[in-house]
Amino acid sequence: MPDLPSVTEMFDLWGEVALVTGASSGLGRRFAKVLAAQGAKVVLCARSTGKLEAVKAEIEFARGDAVCVALDVTDPDGIAAAFDAAEAAFGTVTIVNNNAGIAKPAKAIDMSHEDWRSVLAVNLDAVWFVAQEAARRMAAAGKPGTIINTASILSFLVGNGMASYAVAKAGVVQATKSLALEVARHNIRVNAIAPGYVLTEINRSFFETDAGQDVIKTIPQRRIGDPADLDGTLLLLASGKASGFMTGSTIVIDGGHMMTGG
Ligand SMILES: NC(=O)c1ccc[n+]([C@@H]2O[C@H](COP(=O)([O-])OP(=O)(O)OC[C@H]3O[C@@H](n4cnc5c(N)ncnc54)[C@H](OP(=O)(O)O)[C@@H]3O)[C@@H](O)[C@H]2O)c1
Repeated sequence: MPDLPSVTEMFDLWGEVALVTGASSGLGRRFAKVLAAQGAKVVLCARSTGKLEAVKAEIEFARGDAVCVALDVTDPDGIAAAFDAAEAAFGTVTIVNNNAGIAKPAKAIDMSHEDWRSVLAVNLDAVWFVAQEAARRMAAAGKPGTIINTASILSFLVGNGMASYAVAKAGVVQATKSLALEVARHNIRVNAIAPGYVLTEINRSFFETDAGQDVIKTIPQRRIGDPADLDGTLLLLASGKASGFMTGSTIVIDGGHMMTGG
């Protein structure tokens, strides 16, 4: 039936160039491999270059294309340089996964100025500046593009010891909508994924404790997420053929956790 889409075509990313921050670990590592598997050339960004090289090797083993770029997302010059390197390797970046993130849990009244600032710098400021740089370059090149920010269920909920993280992630939702509003006319879409708890390096040590296991019991699906649980949503937002009329949205993927109020 030629007038109906094939799933393969709908999620095909051949010809796209995807830049993933936080690609050395956890969700970003998975996202980079998933985008590459659909044909995108992938620019792997993080500080740990050894880990990036390992992800690159996995992508190339699967016949994908990737390049590693050392990037501390809190360095504005570094962000511009990363896009320069991406363009030199593969051309204009058309997909951005703004995924680098940290958590520094501390009681609200004890939280240091330094820790507060560092979480906001990575989880919110850098998300904005990477997205802004991407949108400028997509618009200048006259290319449609998609920016996918990694938010969290703590964009909407709060948690003990998680004030800086929750405030930053709430900001990511507003940053997503604010940028989406202004760049829609350039055919650039900006959306966010808000995961619930997904087992990665950011939380592994906590979920191995009794307290962590108790939290898992409060999730309606009675399990913690796996990075692969986000594959479908990532591809939905990455593909203009699949989600061309979506912008400014944040999609929650959490095993039902938000329904419980956290
Ligand atoms: N796992 C979850 O349950 C969960 C839930 C909701 C949202 N999230 C969000 O998902 C994203 C990925 O987290 P994850 O769970 O995959 O954690 P992770 O395994 O700890 O990975 C974090 C990534 O961020 C990078 N990063 C941290 N600071 C950076 C900096 N200054 N510059 C560049 N890269 C930096 C790290 O790379 P380097 O250290 O090599 O630089 C690493 O690749 C984060 O935004 C997190 O808040 C996670």
